[in-house]
Amino acid sequence: MPDPSEPWRPLPPTGREADAVVFDAYGTLLDIHSAVARHAERLGPDASAISREWRVKQLEYSWVRTLTGAAHHRDFMACTRDALHYVCARHGVDDPALIADLLDAYRLLGTYAEVPAMLRALRARRVTTAVLSNGTPMMLADALGHAGIGTLIDALLSVEAVGTFKPDPRVYALAEKRLGLPASRMIFVSANPWDTQAALAAGFRCLRVNRDGAPDEYGLAAAGVPSLPDLSSVPDHLP
Ligand code: LAC
Repeated sequence: MPDPSEPWRPLPPTGREADAVVFDAYGTLLDIHSAVARHAERLGPDASAISREWRVKQLEYSWVRTLTGAAHHRDFMACTRDALHYVCARHGVDDPALIADLLDAYRLLGTYAEVPAMLRALRARRVTTAVLSNGTPMMLADALGHAGIGTLIDALLSVEAVGTFKPDPRVYALAEKRLGLPASRMIFVSANPWDTQAALAAGFRCLRVNRDGAPDEYGLAAAGVPSLPDLSSVPDHLP
């Protein structure tokens, strides 16, 4: 597991068109609905709605904190906790032990079945693998380690290094700075179309993961961004 606080030393450029693949974490490598799934019986029939609304509120809080200015920044764990408390209140979930268990489960999310083999395939091609995420360094290290993929990721890049959240362009610039590569030599992979749009605007080549077959957004298809049903074919998209 790389130490997220250490400066990252990239491999020397290979002359290929893509020297690194940079992944979003939550919803892309990590199954954000696995936290609620673990406690679904205790939550009852609202479990799926709670999971979806938790994600929506978590992102809303991150965006509002970004737009209201640096003094209002709180880390992603705080956004995640505040969002959970709000959604639980909305659904009448008032058991403190259950709420604490849900938050703990968010630190130990599962990954998708194809992810380990896909990351190993990138390794075999000597492509640098990185995660660029809203998550705090500790959240990312815990979740990726628990999912068993921490050792397959070369660099963990948290927005906390720049004190803001996606889609602030400073976040995407962090990948260039820390990996020592221009965006044009990196592939960015995300299941969040708004995140993909921001990476595209920052000059990355992008892949969208669209597990649910959701409609196109932000003109990604017209911009030539491939839409993948899962992550297994990511290595096939290396130039
Ligand atoms: C992340 C969220 C946006 O990992 O999914 O950055």
